[in-house]
Amino acid sequence: MTIRIGVLTGGGDCAGLNSAIKWVTKTAMDPLLADRRSEDIEVLGIRDGWRGLVEVQPDDPQSVSQWIPPLSELVVRTWDRHGGTNLGTSRTNPFNPKDDRSALLLDNLKALDIHAVVAIGGEDTLTVAYNLHRTGFRVVGIPKTIDRDLSATDYCLGYDTAINVITQEVDRLRTTAGSHSRIFVVETMGRHAGWLALEGGEASGALVILIPEHDFDIQRVADLLMARRKAGVRYDIVVVSEGAKPRGGQEVYLSDKKDDFGHKVLGGIGRFLAKEVGRLTDLETRHVVLSHLQRGGVPTAMDRLMGRHFGIAAVDLLLSEDFGRMVALREGRIESVPLKAAIERLNVVNVAELYDTQRYNGRRSALLR
Ligand code: F6P
Repeated sequence: MTIRIGVLTGGGDCAGLNSAIKWVTKTAMDPLLADRRSEDIEVLGIRDGWRGLVEVQPDDPQSVSQWIPPLSELVVRTWDRHGGTNLGTSRTNPFNPKDDRSALLLDNLKALDIHAVVAIGGEDTLTVAYNLHRTGFRVVGIPKTIDRDLSATDYCLGYDTAINVITQEVDRLRTTAGSHSRIFVVETMGRHAGWLALEGGEASGALVILIPEHDFDIQRVADLLMARRKAGVRYDIVVVSEGAKPRGGQEVYLSDKKDDFGHKVLGGIGRFLAKEVGRLTDLETRHVVLSHLQRGGVPTAMDRLMGRHFGIAAVDLLLSEDFGRMVALREGRIESVPLKAAIERLNVVNVAELYDTQRYNGRRSALLR
């Protein structure tokens, strides 16, 4: 007998997704691993995340081949080197109370004879996975998000590549900032978690790092920059997370429009801050928004490797019928956790342990508490 499993990527894309898809497919279909399986497995790709499963018309072969293409070892052979997601993604939420399409989702899974789904995603995609699991359907999750804000895992696909992009882009800015003796404010992504700004800022050696977990004082930022200029430093880099805000101020959004999960798109704090710093210091200050560059490009070795290990572990969960769980990295080991634990709270920066609130930068002691 043959069973069919579906694999999808949901939410914001990032590097490492294709590696996970490849290793789910390879491991599930590898003839050399046949003795571990009681049934043969067919792997189906699901296009554009959960959207594929609500848009597909199971009775129409053209629609099925458009939304649910079959995968094979040959199809995915080179995918681990590719950025983004070759299956496409969306922010579709079939359980959105304002437009509940969960019954259609379940009907389509049944009509397509899909036995189980591997959902690769962040908080939103995995919340849908958890809701689907609660209906009794077989589902397992793989964590991805450059924000690295899932609490039950020490790693989320895409994070390492994003940190590398931040470091490389700041390196590039340094030469022009130095030539012109300018301050550059660099805005990173991350939503309400400051990891990208904090660790991207630490890795690139920024003077000031501003994160959502600690509201900043604009005058203090200006003073830190002025002190360096007086000490003879020609230029400086400020890294600010898109979710950071000044004390007593508000988060800055690109627009008020909300997605299917109720999120508005953050963006604009870098521009605001550059203007304020320029006004308070008289130093020439520019801003750069790294935006989706952080989600682009080929995956680093770390993201390829973690995609591989997570993909293999997801198939282990399927074979052991351990559904409703997410694969995770915990203290250096690949493990699994209940999906519920993965989504119940966000992993944000512990300011007391990891952030210097005086110098607005990373901690200056690693062992002393
Ligand atoms: O959650 C990942 C993320 O890249 C956030 O850091 C960012 O706020 C958001 O997605 C942007 O989403 P979109 O690509 O839909 O604008």
